[in-house]
Amino acid sequence: MIKTHACHKPFPQDFIWGVSSGSYQIEGAATEDGKGDSVWDLFCKRESAILSGQTGEVACDHYHRYQEDVNLMREFGVQAYRFSFSWPRVMPEGTGRVNEKGMDFYDRLVDSLLKAGIEPWAMLFHWDYPQELYCRGGWLNRDSADWFADYTRQMVERFSDRIQYWITYDEPSAFIMCGHKTGEHAPGLRLSLPEQLRVNHHVNLAHGKAVQAIRAVAKKKPIVGLSSYMDAHYPLTDSAEDKTAAQAMNFTVMSREGRSVGWWLDPVMLGQYPEDGLQIFGSDMPQILSGDMATMAQPLDFIGINYYSARAVRSGEHGPEVVAELPGYAMTTQYDWAIAPHGLYTILRQCYERYKRPLVITENGHQNNDHVMLDGKVHDPQRIDYLRRHLLAAQRAMDDGVDLRGYFPWTFTDNFEWAFGYRTRVGMVHTDYQTQKRTPKDSAYWYRKVIQTNGAHLLVDDYGV
Ligand code: FCB
Repeated sequence: MIKTHACHKPFPQDFIWGVSSGSYQIEGAATEDGKGDSVWDLFCKRESAILSGQTGEVACDHYHRYQEDVNLMREFGVQAYRFSFSWPRVMPEGTGRVNEKGMDFYDRLVDSLLKAGIEPWAMLFHWDYPQELYCRGGWLNRDSADWFADYTRQMVERFSDRIQYWITYDEPSAFIMCGHKTGEHAPGLRLSLPEQLRVNHHVNLAHGKAVQAIRAVAKKKPIVGLSSYMDAHYPLTDSAEDKTAAQAMNFTVMSREGRSVGWWLDPVMLGQYPEDGLQIFGSDMPQILSGDMATMAQPLDFIGINYYSARAVRSGEHGPEVVAELPGYAMTTQYDWAIAPHGLYTILRQCYERYKRPLVITENGHQNNDHVMLDGKVHDPQRIDYLRRHLLAAQRAMDDGVDLRGYFPWTFTDNFEWAFGYRTRVGMVHTDYQTQKRTPKDSAYWYRKVIQTNGAHLLVDDYGV
């Protein structure tokens, strides 16, 4: 029996229970209705880039089946849907010309969500980058910030009569480090450190300019945030020393190879690159023009926390030490990521204390090798347990004063998981990629009960079997 903190305060009445997704991972229809190429369309064609040579060409065929997916969301009580626009679908060249048919798709999607009583949370960029812009230098080109702002303006002008929640981007740490440093993700670059940092600076600027554009043209009062991946650490023990060590790991750049949660968030939240990072990167930092820092640090309404895993840290002789081997690490997901709900608790508290903005969990989920069983159902008790543990940890952070506004697990339907292709399943709804049949997993039924009871069901041992 685990300690479930039965004494939690209830979730606030207006707590938002959502789900999240990303355009390239579900839409398919990669060449339909005038869509331009995304860097992912081309990257997937490279030999050995993706497990088993899979691509997002069809994915979950959400482009054609969005109505069925929205119906399922409604059936499972989902209150809000975080989805992303495919930039090359609506602007095939990335700037200038708008593809009306692409826009029409999102009109249909947004209207159908609203009709189902589901609040749309629109993300502008979840790694689906126009190939045409990549050919013009992509994020290495300082103009990329203006390209992104122009695209944002188009989307906000078109949809802000119906959309109030806007998220600029998903996880710069992932698309910069995997896409521009290690080359595991599109566009598959292995840039030098100064180039990586230049990309980073332009992405920060793009975010700031996009926020300005949203606030300038939105018809409904916009609620604006970003989603950041938490490369999180938590203290091994409750000692003050270990707590300080975990804090240091989360917010200090320790090496030229690494970054930190603070490195990604400080510039956009506090208007400065952390001093420790500036020291380590030294002359490899790009030129920062006057006004850049103010531009990127636009006031935000919330920070989106994407959380999956964390590492334990203790205070060592020479400073903070990551504890590599832990008996508790026997609990892992299919990606071999440690299941570490205490990391979520820790990072929620630390981010709230540092940035003093409301938080929303915009991703959290469990990767597993689920399949439809002989009884026709998909039993995924591990996922239920993962989500339950993390929601309880989040609730504990709220008990301690963190202003957490919502929870958007990753993800609704199983989808294209980047370099892992379709092998890993992270959804609450099983997708049969041969037939496109959706089968809600036990976790979807469980999540419905969590939503219906506004979280009270978390205290019940219900693993769906
Ligand atoms: C996150 C990505 C998301 C998904 C999950 C598993 O880093 O934002 O698209 O692939 O990982």
